Amino acid sequence: MDLRIEKLKRKDLRHVLPIEAVVFPEPWSVGVFHSELALRHGRLYRAAWHGDDMAGYIGFMIVGDEAHVTTIATAPAYQRRGVASTLLIDGIHSLLPLGVRHLSLEVAANNEPAQTLYRRFGFAPVGVRKNYYPVTGEDALVMWAYDIDTPEYAERLEELTPSQS
Ligand SMILES: CC(C)(COP(=O)(O)OP(=O)(O)OC[C@H]1O[C@@H](n2cnc3c(N)ncnc32)[C@H](O)[C@@H]1OP(=O)(O)O)[C@@H](O)C(=O)NCCC(=O)NCCS
Repeated sequence: MDLRIEKLKRKDLRHVLPIEAVVFPEPWSVGVFHSELALRHGRLYRAAWHGDDMAGYIGFMIVGDEAHVTTIATAPAYQRRGVASTLLIDGIHSLLPLGVRHLSLEVAANNEPAQTLYRRFGFAPVGVRKNYYPVTGEDALVMWAYDIDTPEYAERLEELTPSQS
């Protein structure tokens, strides 16, 4: 699939919010997105476009040599077509020159699809945050991928790069 990855801008939020509302039980408000996008340092937000359609988006918070995945979502019509993988790969390629070496995230304990995706990218569970999600009460799994700056990890990324079909 022909995807274009670009910086996520404030004006793109009209595409983000409807996706956010259908894919997350606790969607971010427009205010949360505004404050994240307003930060000039320490954040990376990117969107995947298929023509004029937003296929998905991703966000990272960068602290020293660590980047935390703050959000990742693929529009339902585009799921299982490599969008999230493409966003992760593009994000990692943008983060490496900034000195990022490790990635972390929280994922709902019952979110098998996302956990499967993350395991493919070398994330492993390191802990549980009990009742992390206020609305659902679901626990969160804390996952880390270490040493993304190594040749071994570059090889893994190469293997994960979706073919353009
Ligand atoms: C999780 C999510 C971002 C995955 O996006 P995606 O674009 O469909 O992911 P990809 O097509 O890149 O999938 C890559 C791999 O992840 C795994 N995966 C993705 N979705 C899966 C699913 N529903 N069931 C099982 N495995 C899945 C598979 O191994 C898949 O490879 P395959 O399709 O060759 O089998 C998407 O399902 C989504 O937006 N979910 C709702 C929001 C969410 O849960 N975000 C994560 C919050 S922590």
